[in-house]
Amino acid sequence: GGVTTIDPGYKNTGSCESAITFLNGEEGILRYRGYSIEELADKADFLEVAYLLIFGELPTKDQLSKFHEDIKAQSHVDEDVKKILDGFPKSAHPMGVLSSLTSALVAFNPSSVNVDSEEEMYNAIVRILAKFPVLTAWAYRKRVGLPLEYGDASLGYVENFLKMMFKKPNSNYVPKKDIVAAFDKLLILHADHEQNCSTSTVRMVGSSHAGLFVSISAGIAALWGPLHGGANQAVIEMLEAIKEDGGDTKKFMAKAKDKNDPFRLMGFGHRVYKNFDPRAKIIKKAADEVLNDLGIDDPVLDIAIALEKEALEDQYFVDRKLYPNVDFYSGIIYRALGIPVEMFTPMFALGRLPGWIAQWREMRLRKEPIGRPRQVYIGENLRPFKETEER
Ligand code: CMC
Repeated sequence: GGVTTIDPGYKNTGSCESAITFLNGEEGILRYRGYSIEELADKADFLEVAYLLIFGELPTKDQLSKFHEDIKAQSHVDEDVKKILDGFPKSAHPMGVLSSLTSALVAFNPSSVNVDSEEEMYNAIVRILAKFPVLTAWAYRKRVGLPLEYGDASLGYVENFLKMMFKKPNSNYVPKKDIVAAFDKLLILHADHEQNCSTSTVRMVGSSHAGLFVSISAGIAALWGPLHGGANQAVIEMLEAIKEDGGDTKKFMAKAKDKNDPFRLMGFGHRVYKNFDPRAKIIKKAADEVLNDLGIDDPVLDIAIALEKEALEDQYFVDRKLYPNVDFYSGIIYRALGIPVEMFTPMFALGRLPGWIAQWREMRLRKEPIGRPRQVYIGENLRPFKETEER
């Protein structure tokens, strides 16, 4: 028999049991493996959080250093991957480039595909954690015409990534400690968010026992959309558009409320958070600090603050429980750190990578069945074939 009820968008459908991330949307609570996001953002670093999410416990000093060494040992990318990257036009969106290159990596790492044992999984995991930041930095460098380079293995994971992004030829660029810390915090805040669209995609693709890399590649594609990770780029573009238009936030609020206008207030609303997004709170504070630290006066921040204030007092937004989400203020920090707007969503992907990996690993270890939802058929009943002349 077929199913008789459906739940479009899976608004009220659980797809799995998971021990990774706890989220309470009414109270605005987010915890990774039982640790509060506030405490982790304050005290942990990104690689520790990655380890925690993937393996379930905070690493000891030795466990963390072995993990980091294993990652460093895999941080080369086959030279032929550069040829694939070279085939893209400079104007290609880096999310498309990253999804493609992550998929292409399979061909250069065939042992990462059939991973049944924990050891094989571990090897695939350290490979993708090592190579994805390189691909991300390369996608950026290609776009801005910088030579493709590797980082510096003596640096921390995040510091090294920033160096790979921004190092100019013949310079001794070392990212500032404050910048590394702010960026690290952003990555932690993005690291997992239970069964969101991209993570569900990773689990779904992985459930057919396609390998880790292609599952991640599919997750990157899902994250790209403006209703999901692509919102961070869309927010800044929206704030810029408001600025260009003269800064009248009320006009854009009216557009967002108009049901005949497809415009939405980007960075507002969330499927699960109906009170506040705890990540947005931390990010707003961090945005203030980073701008202060760097002595940057960004008029777009003023527009964001005005828009937030108006929305929080507006009946339409109050009735629908729409609050600023993680993407509302993150772009302002990325911009202050010198990251161009089309790289915002790739930064989200880099942050979410440990979460995708953790969820994929959990799904495989629990031997979950292939994902295969049902439907309610609403098409034609049986009818006879019509020859071309009869149509
Ligand atoms: N601006 C104006 N109206 C909105 C917005 C918004 N940003 N978000 C939701 N609504 C309205 C929506 O029109 C609907 O109104 P009505 O009940 O009158 O039809 C009501 O609020 C409920 O919205 P929904 O679309 O049914 O809610 P959803 O859970 O399907 O969608 C969402 C959640 C995040 C996709 C949506 O709020 C949205 O499009 N927000 C803007 C994009 C965005 O910021 N995305 C980032 C999400 S957070 C992290 C991430 O995934 O990257």
